[in-house]
Amino acid sequence: MRAFKALSTNVLLIRNMAPNLDQTYWEMRYQNKNTPWDMGMASPPLIKYFESQPLSSKILIPGAGQAWEAKWLYEQGFENISVLDLSESALALAQEKFDEPHKLNWLLADFFQHQGQYDLIMEQTFFCALDPNLRADYALKMKELLKPGGRLFGLLFNFPLSDDGPPFGGSLEEYQQLFEKHFKIAHLEPSYNSIKPRSGKEIFIELIA
Ligand SMILES: C[S@@+](CC[C@H](N)C(=O)[O-])C[C@H]1O[C@@H](n2cnc3c(N)ncnc32)[C@H](O)[C@@H]1O
Repeated sequence: MRAFKALSTNVLLIRNMAPNLDQTYWEMRYQNKNTPWDMGMASPPLIKYFESQPLSSKILIPGAGQAWEAKWLYEQGFENISVLDLSESALALAQEKFDEPHKLNWLLADFFQHQGQYDLIMEQTFFCALDPNLRADYALKMKELLKPGGRLFGLLFNFPLSDDGPPFGGSLEEYQQLFEKHFKIAHLEPSYNSIKPRSGKEIFIELIA
């Protein structure tokens, strides 16, 4: 799983990101088919969570990549799905899976610039892909994008944070400190139903705005 590393570019910073994690970096990862994080299927812990949510939920998937969960959501009848990524190729690959892609909202955008209000925001290998210096901004932005009582839920990695990423790791204690300032923590615990290669390496979160 410590295999996101590759490429180094230094052009077109969207905002104050580490130089090699900008839009060009991610776009090249998709163009070069260098996307080892891509599970090729919707993630079981995320599906399990969505199963208890109303179909009318307004949902954001930021840093969505190929957005396998969006396809699953659409097939279940969820009515308001927004898929956001700053890589055009990622969104194009995701859209290819839909007969009627116009029934979802596709947002080619920087998460930190996005404006909106959601009931649910899903996290999967987006947090770990960001420069760790952006973690406080991430928590704040998530709070801003959620309706009062809305939820940020998903999976975070639980291996030690180092300079060696992406993916960048973290621990339960670090995540607790980061999120408790802005959210009521409903769940922050080892994930019991991760896919086999990620088993024991993921923490499930459900944070209430
Ligand atoms: C490691 S990939 C994960 C993709 C997807 N969540 C998955 O699990 O397959 C990280 C994704 O975040 C996107 N990304 C990185 N920084 C972003 C930002 N500031 N705004 C929006 N998307 C971003 C990248 O283009 C990439 O698709």
